[in-house]
Amino acid sequence: MPNINKPVPGADQYYPLNEPSIGSPYPESIYPQNATIPALFQPLSIKGITFKNRIFVAPMCQYSADNGHVTDWHLVHIGGFATRGAGAICMEATAVVPEGRISPQDAGLWTDSQIAPFQRVVNFAHAQGTLIGVQLAHAGRKASTLAPWVESDVAQTRRTATRVAQKTEGGWPDEVYGPSDLPFSDKYPKPKPMDEAHLLYVEDAFVKAIERCKAIGFDFIEIHAAHGYLLHEFVSPLSNTRTDSYGGSLENRLCWPLRLISKCRAAWSKPLFVRISATDWAEGPELGSDGEWKQWGIEQSKVYVGEMQKIGVDLVDCSGGGNWVHQNIKLGPGYQVPFAEALKKAFPNLPVAAVGLITDPQQAESYLRDGKADAVFLARELLRTPQWPIIAAHELGIAVKPANQHERAWVDMLTPAKASF
Ligand SMILES: Cc1cc2nc3c(=O)[nH]c(=O)nc-3n(C[C@H](O)[C@H](O)[C@H](O)COP(=O)(O)O)c2cc1C
Repeated sequence: MPNINKPVPGADQYYPLNEPSIGSPYPESIYPQNATIPALFQPLSIKGITFKNRIFVAPMCQYSADNGHVTDWHLVHIGGFATRGAGAICMEATAVVPEGRISPQDAGLWTDSQIAPFQRVVNFAHAQGTLIGVQLAHAGRKASTLAPWVESDVAQTRRTATRVAQKTEGGWPDEVYGPSDLPFSDKYPKPKPMDEAHLLYVEDAFVKAIERCKAIGFDFIEIHAAHGYLLHEFVSPLSNTRTDSYGGSLENRLCWPLRLISKCRAAWSKPLFVRISATDWAEGPELGSDGEWKQWGIEQSKVYVGEMQKIGVDLVDCSGGGNWVHQNIKLGPGYQVPFAEALKKAFPNLPVAAVGLITDPQQAESYLRDGKADAVFLARELLRTPQWPIIAAHELGIAVKPANQHERAWVDMLTPAKASF
């Protein structure tokens, strides 16, 4: 047998094949330490697609797209996770219409020329054995804002007077839409309430973006229904003050987001995720003593997610906040996990993912082992430590495959334990 550096079959460039796939446990026959695989490294199958482990890269806006087209920045950013063992990567909030971008530099999928640069990233991830999806989004009343580092620096030595990206800054402050005419704050654009034709136009844009996702080859889609963007704005009584059939009662507020999600479901046969905010983190109770819903919270989230399950949504990614400028978030490790846990309890058969200050392998493992969630999404910790999945395996005492090219950095982990019999 010739000694060949085996290529990834069918890849568009030469890449050495990883066997097993990066981030997957080695066989127990060679690594006795792999006799018991931690929950984080158990595969998760959804609709015939198997995620090799349960460490998912959360969507992270890079504010680096060129008129909605992703660039080589995205290839390198996402490529770093694809080569370091994540079970899935969800690409950033990607606008289905140009006026649905958060900032002028957001990614988009509103036109066909945006397909090829995404495809380059997806092909690379696939060649590294990593599943990849995209978060489809509309920013609603929080559109046309400046990229964070343009608005202020982290040291707070400067701050713009407004968050609005003006026309001269590539923005569209007069074309910002929401359920009602309430701005997020006085530093945000004043939205125009959407009429029926506009709702249909946005639904259609989501479906067209999904057609582009099929051409690109994404493995899953996540609908962004969290963080005070358009879909969250419709469900929360703090941002939706409409008096028509899309506002008022809980049923009315859920009506349009559920209609949109149903259309996405009908258009996409692979796994469909939805990210929700489970709370507005506003002052006071979710339900007033007068029987009125005062803010968005976990009780209404349960009703919403129950409807999503009926529609056929495959996974709910449980986040929080972003819709109330005075939000008071009780930050701490895994601060949003109780919401994921509440959804998991209410819908034991629906996969639920937790996100928010999950940074430690034992911590992440405990959420899965205790049945609080089926997968974890990590964001900032992965920016600091893209090789977190490999480190987590090492810390949890098992050996997983690093990329062939990185093996020499992991000799310690890759030493088979002595069998203990
Ligand atoms: C740089 C950056 C960009 C983000 N962009 C998005 C985004 O596009 N869509 C989204 O739903 N959340 C976004 N988030 C939120 C993260 O997905 C995640 O929910 C949040 O950071 C909490 O998780 P963490 O504590 O692991 O960072 C972003 C966070 C960061 C740090």
